[in-house]
Amino acid sequence: KITKLEMMAYYVIVFLALISYAGSVEEQSVSFKNCMKSSAGAATSIETIVLTSSSSQYQQTLQAFEQNPRWVNSSSASTSPTMPLVILTPLTASHIQAAILCTKKLGMQIRVRSGGHDYEGLSFLSYSKAPFVMLDLNKLRSIDINLADETAWVQAGATLGELYYKISKASALHGFPAGICPSIGLGGHISGGGFGTMLRKFGTAADNVVDATIIDANGKILDRKSMGEDLFWAIRGGGGNNFGVVLSWKIKLVRVPPVVTAFNVQRTVAEGATKLILKWQTIADKLPKDLFIRVVAQNTGANSATVQVLFNSFFLGGIDRLMPIMKQSFPELGLQAKDCTEMTWIQSALFFDGYSKDDAPEALLDRVTTFKSSFKAKSDYVRKPIPEAGLEGIWKLLLKEDVQAMLIMEPYGGRMSEIPESEIAFPHRKGNLYNIQYLVKWDVNTAEASSRHVRWMKSLYSYMTPYVSNSPRATYVNYRDLDIGTNKRHNTSFAEASVWGIKYFKANFIRLSQIKKKVDPHNFFRNEQSIPLFS
Ligand code: FDA
Repeated sequence: KITKLEMMAYYVIVFLALISYAGSVEEQSVSFKNCMKSSAGAATSIETIVLTSSSSQYQQTLQAFEQNPRWVNSSSASTSPTMPLVILTPLTASHIQAAILCTKKLGMQIRVRSGGHDYEGLSFLSYSKAPFVMLDLNKLRSIDINLADETAWVQAGATLGELYYKISKASALHGFPAGICPSIGLGGHISGGGFGTMLRKFGTAADNVVDATIIDANGKILDRKSMGEDLFWAIRGGGGNNFGVVLSWKIKLVRVPPVVTAFNVQRTVAEGATKLILKWQTIADKLPKDLFIRVVAQNTGANSATVQVLFNSFFLGGIDRLMPIMKQSFPELGLQAKDCTEMTWIQSALFFDGYSKDDAPEALLDRVTTFKSSFKAKSDYVRKPIPEAGLEGIWKLLLKEDVQAMLIMEPYGGRMSEIPESEIAFPHRKGNLYNIQYLVKWDVNTAEASSRHVRWMKSLYSYMTPYVSNSPRATYVNYRDLDIGTNKRHNTSFAEASVWGIKYFKANFIRLSQIKKKVDPHNFFRNEQSIPLFS
């Protein structure tokens, strides 16, 4: 039996432990600030760019751009992540260099956040107990377009929307092939590949990078020439936070016609959408490269009676050229000219983000996504059509979930099949019909809701096993999923990390870990799914 005295002693010990923890957090923050002051020079007031957990701006800055608040308010001790000891918002490359050297000296880690869209939040939280500094690149977002050589230098903190907008202001005949959500940051997106409506014509965003600047674990700024072709290969699709802090990318702009066309055709499963998907699976990757038709299949939340299927399409050209292609390849969809809308490329960026094409393009500059909610996602690659019975099983599972749940199926083929798997670190090429992203999102952010919906997602993923790629069951690193495996806190071996690494990077995982060993031999840049050193 515990006496009153023992109880009191227990509370005093807990209280003292909390005070000493708070003290050590405060001391570490002060040490970091002092180190920054002596390294970054007196020119900048460090106080204005460093936030500690006691700063009034800390919480707001932490949560401002994060897209998945699933864990931030988590009350479940077993899944509670660690938040940054300090948030640093660098204004210059020299601040990042100083931060790398100071964190190394003080035995801390670093996490980098560009757009904050990481599906598991790894840019702003950590599951290791080690104290870390979060670099928030929000102030490093300049975009310089050079139409003479059709390139642009973009800083990593810029968003896709900012890039698209800036390109459209400079030229009506250029664009860039990257993701659909405008608030995504270029730092993380291109590091993982990055694809959207033009992937069948031009490949991924990473395929269209011609130079980059990066700050390595020694605080050195490198460009393509000084980093060498190995590292330049690795940062194009090998995942963020592995090799250094990407400062900027030099991208190749692509030419787009003055008129593009978009359409949305919606059918329910009750109206025969399953048969349409059966046909879509046989043609979507073989259509002309100018045409991208993706499928979004979703329930409508609680008590859905049927699954809704959206054929959501982008075409690099006008309606007159699109209609004959559709009549010949996919007559079953019954597409008519009145279902299609002609627009400019920049209007299509608005359209795909759920705006009307006539809305002001400045909407693309909003860094906070309209999508923000708690969610869990996973992804797969499909190499042979899923049979009718397989699709019907998916619909049953979607109708079982009581919150919004969906599959987004994005066709590959075209340019994606022409680029060899080993050309850059992003490996998913020939042989894939399409990528599926599974998504479930909910509004009530409790640990109970989280675990229930994550459980549902796991059951769907398990159901899909016979229908998707295997050996490896490939998945896309930008749709990060910690369920497929994580590094151990210390000394994860190459063999252990291969369990998930080969799913993300296929055979490229070996070269990635060899490059990691060469450029970051002390594994300074690391997180729960960072590339391990080759052994
Ligand atoms: P964030 O800042 O969270 O970074 C992601 C990872 O990269 C982290 O590990 C981070 O540390 C690291 N990192 C960030 N900046 C870095 C830098 N400068 N140097 C080194 N490492 C850095 N994908 C896609 O291909 N097509 C799409 O259409 C979409 N759509 C989409 C919609 C929505 C609503 C979300 C939330 C996400 C997507 N994505 C996507 C996925 C997106 O591409 C992926 O989450 C990117 O990694 C996000 O990059 P951010 O910079 O925004 O994230």
